Amino acid sequence: MKKRILLSLLVIFELFAITGCGNNKLSQEADKKANDILNDKNETKSESKILIVYFSRTGENYNVGNVEVGNTAIMASYMKEYLNADSFEIIPVNKYPDSYDECLKVATKEKNENARPAIQNKIDDISIYDTVFIGYPIWWGDIPQIVYTFMEEYDLSGKTIIPFNTHEGSGNSGTYNTIKNKLSKSNVKTNGLALQGKVARTDKGKEETINWLKELGY
Ligand SMILES: Cc1cc2nc3c(=O)[nH]c(=O)nc-3n(C[C@H](O)[C@H](O)[C@H](O)COP(=O)(O)O)c2cc1C
Repeated sequence: MKKRILLSLLVIFELFAITGCGNNKLSQEADKKANDILNDKNETKSESKILIVYFSRTGENYNVGNVEVGNTAIMASYMKEYLNADSFEIIPVNKYPDSYDECLKVATKEKNENARPAIQNKIDDISIYDTVFIGYPIWWGDIPQIVYTFMEEYDLSGKTIIPFNTHEGSGNSGTYNTIKNKLSKSNVKTNGLALQGKVARTDKGKEETINWLKELGY
């Protein structure tokens, strides 16, 4: 039954994908601000104990047009600013295509092959963090394959893991439970936050993100 619901969601999503992306004009200022925050190196590194890991794609995306900062990255920037935490962007060795349709093709192939796309950058010392937020977009009802690569490359045992994601209709698509099952030696919270990508780019998205962090006790 669950499979059937997921399949229908994917079919609906694919129909939207075929009809093309929206072309909304987005605030480039907001993109710049998010980039500044994400590129800012925290000097309080060893004290912060919280790491925000995220994967996010730039280029042409569904419902938001062409973006210089991805939706999940924008969400991560709100979190980084509010928590004064360190952040780590998962950067693929092979950049995903800027073209939305091309990216769908690459992602489909990776999912079918259960691939583990390589990550080009590294976290110096993950052992200094007690809490790791993991953020990603939903890709075909799942976590992008490269986020599986991340979860397998690092020792996350004993840490509190808090997932968050953006999507265009699928919510978290069961991925918080997927992470919980995968990282059985971590304390995975399943009360993550799933924001629609388009909303993540607005003040409402920022407010929802901060309210969620407050509810979590931050
Ligand atoms: C390859 C691919 C597959 C996607 N599959 C889904 C999906 O199954 N369900 C959904 O709601 N959104 C899906 N989306 C939309 C993204 O989850 C959404 O646009 C997200 O906010 C993108 O985040 P980013 O800008 O951080 O990459 C997909 C997008 C791409 C590129």
